[in-house]
Amino acid sequence: MKEDGTRFAMVTAHDALSARLVEKAGIEIILVGDSLGMTALGFSTTLRVTLDMMLHHAAAVARCAELPLLVGDMPFMTYKISHEEALTNAGRLLSEGGMEAVKVEGGREIAPVIERLVSAGIPVMGHVGLTPQSIHAQGGYRVQGRTEEAAERILVDAQAVAEAGAFSIVLEAMPTSIGRKITKALDIPTIGIGAGPDCDAQVLVFYDLLGLTDRKLPKFVKKYADLFDPALEGLKTFAEEIRSGQFPGEEHTYGE
Ligand code: KIV
Repeated sequence: MKEDGTRFAMVTAHDALSARLVEKAGIEIILVGDSLGMTALGFSTTLRVTLDMMLHHAAAVARCAELPLLVGDMPFMTYKISHEEALTNAGRLLSEGGMEAVKVEGGREIAPVIERLVSAGIPVMGHVGLTPQSIHAQGGYRVQGRTEEAAERILVDAQAVAEAGAFSIVLEAMPTSIGRKITKALDIPTIGIGAGPDCDAQVLVFYDLLGLTDRKLPKFVKKYADLFDPALEGLKTFAEEIRSGQFPGEEHTYGE
């Protein structure tokens, strides 16, 4: 698709419903992202997500979506301690979680891990720029690569990830010019999230793009629907109708 200049989409899914919707929409890649921690599990960062949590949700997604490529995030500290642990954990995401590839965050420092996973037959997606698992080291959810040196570092990191054998790479929260430069420099597809319009693909979090949240959203999110308020109204009306005796009506009962 990159060679053809055909753009594609990736969306997160964390359960059966989101997996079905994303597949029905014809989206090419499902990411069972560790944004799971915030969207479904109520944590404030991705650092609390464990491999067991990921496996539980990945397996639900895999049961419900066949067509998209299924990529599972490797959670915090499941691939940086040793190559053996990385291999075991990535293997579990494929064998128990039903994923077809894994995603890891980081640049040069994790290139050897990527090589090891790829040589074991596990396809790897990279992720550079803003990497939420390093949120404390990066000083918050900030745009990366604002200076020339920082931009150069991201480019070198992306090249290292690609050379290590990653089949694609997420570019998160960086100026458009860096997204463009990396996309031109790499043979593998870049998947942008706040990295400008020149990436080969774009990714958004399911709940964000459908407006199924009352959180303040980052600038790079476009809401394609606004489902939070209608859902809230539906729930309120349900409760009111029970209080007033309007529900259940005759049509919702099995008769005397
Ligand atoms: O966890 C996630 O959802 C992600 C995407 C935002 C790229 O990593």
